[in-house]
Amino acid sequence: DEEQTLRPQMLSQYIGQSDLKEMLSIYVKAALKREESLDHILLYGAPGLGKTTLAQIIANEMGVNIKITSGPAIERSGDLAALLSSLQPGDVLFIDEIHRLPRYVEEVLYSAMEDYVIDIIIGKDTESRSIRIELPPFTLIGATTRFGDLSAPLRDRFGAVMRLTYYKQEELEQIVSRTADVYQNKIDALAVKELARRSRGTPRIANRLFRRVRDFAEIMTDGFVNEEITKLALTKLGIDRNGLDESDYLYLKGIVERFKGGPVGLESLAATIGEEVGTIEDVYEPYLLQEGYIIRTPRGRVATKLAYDLLGIKYYEGMLE
Ligand code: ADE
Repeated sequence: DEEQTLRPQMLSQYIGQSDLKEMLSIYVKAALKREESLDHILLYGAPGLGKTTLAQIIANEMGVNIKITSGPAIERSGDLAALLSSLQPGDVLFIDEIHRLPRYVEEVLYSAMEDYVIDIIIGKDTESRSIRIELPPFTLIGATTRFGDLSAPLRDRFGAVMRLTYYKQEELEQIVSRTADVYQNKIDALAVKELARRSRGTPRIANRLFRRVRDFAEIMTDGFVNEEITKLALTKLGIDRNGLDESDYLYLKGIVERFKGGPVGLESLAATIGEEVGTIEDVYEPYLLQEGYIIRTPRGRVATKLAYDLLGIKYYEGMLE
């Protein structure tokens, strides 16, 4: 599918996350040189920063197969056992949202990661017995948006923990240019800059916005993505000049107008704006925090002067005290 061509296949094509790439390249080379499987790796960071893409690249660089699943998709230990026993030596098992693995499944994973064995209990009560399944050496790549939600025993079994950060303007510009190339659309430099600036530091958003802008360009002109069409399309999509959308505004207005700027607890805020707590924490807040629109205090979320300025509401010094 289109996503596949969009995703870089090798580390050398992957833009950004330079420190992480450098470390990863060393781990991969060392494992290849020793002819061993790569140690288990945990990738964490906000949604859309490229965790799945990196897992696929790692498998490509190691020259092995990858099986992709997610925490909530593995409901029984038998599901995990089936997945693990289908692996070839050295293969990668990628578990997205690994913090959502059921506890009893997670416990099966411990011995699999540590000793490449799993003990499965079959039968019920007095009839039950345990059978041991030997596994080939494999690499588990776990991905999570919430490092803190992982249990300590699981965290400790990863040989490397790598955090993905928001992308810089310049990196997003490279990604947008590459995407335009993949789709064979002409794009001008100012449109590239504008898309990058409004993508919340996130390649997945950059690519999604590009596809929408490209729709406008193909209908309105010959498909040339210029600055004017880009700005028009993004405005119609409800994306402001900083990349914030209606949900971000709803969130910030919630704090400022309903809770006098805060502090307000996450639960109350979520109920007020009709959004799920998890979505607010994983999707909206990380970027708003990083850009300084809000701060987190022990008593709850607080809107900063930047948020007031954005909403065009007067901010008084000392309002936070
Ligand atoms: N497409 C999405 N993310 C990318 C990245 N980090 N590098 C290159 N292309 C991408």
